[in-house]
Amino acid sequence: MSPVWQQKKLIDFCKANGIVVTAFSPLGAKVTSWGTNHVMENEVLMEIAKARGKTVAQVCLRWIYEQGVTPVMKSYNKERLKENLQIFDWELSEDDSKKISEIKQHRMMLKEELISARGPYKSIEELWDGEL
Ligand SMILES: NC(=O)c1ccc[n+]([C@@H]2O[C@H](COP(=O)([O-])OP(=O)(O)OC[C@H]3O[C@@H](n4cnc5c(N)ncnc54)[C@H](OP(=O)(O)O)[C@@H]3O)[C@@H](O)[C@H]2O)c1
Repeated sequence: MSPVWQQKKLIDFCKANGIVVTAFSPLGAKVTSWGTNHVMENEVLMEIAKARGKTVAQVCLRWIYEQGVTPVMKSYNKERLKENLQIFDWELSEDDSKKISEIKQHRMMLKEELISARGPYKSIEELWDGEL
């Protein structure tokens, strides 16, 4: 989950059923085979970060935190690890949140490996909730 793959329907379902959601790859995991540049290079996130004197990573992580979701981010860099924890003493404005809610969405992974003629999901459409 990230601001670029918000999965609102899933999050609403989990909230309604008392399920705590964990967001893997909240920064888009951009150098991995499953990752994407769409998060860290998103214009809306870059604008908000610039206006608030924060980084795009901090805006993403703060947004996830404000959704009541637990982010699981990764960095091998000590400074970026510290940066990623500095999200608890400020908040996004209503306008920031509105702009983030309007970001064009991209499904980060299709999970085609879960599709099988003999399995419970026989097509991508059956596997996903139709939100994207
Ligand atoms: N079990 C599962 O199905 C599953 C699926 C996906 C992910 N995960 C786990 O979730 C964790 C996080 O996911 P992820 O590594 O895929 O994605 P991620 O945390 O969204 O992205 C990690 C990437 O972002 C960079 N980064 C981190 N902080 C940054 C910052 N402040 N500014 C700029 N770049 C920053 C990292 O580079 P640097 O290291 O150079 O900072 C790395 O390239 C990992 O531990 C992963 O194993 C589990």
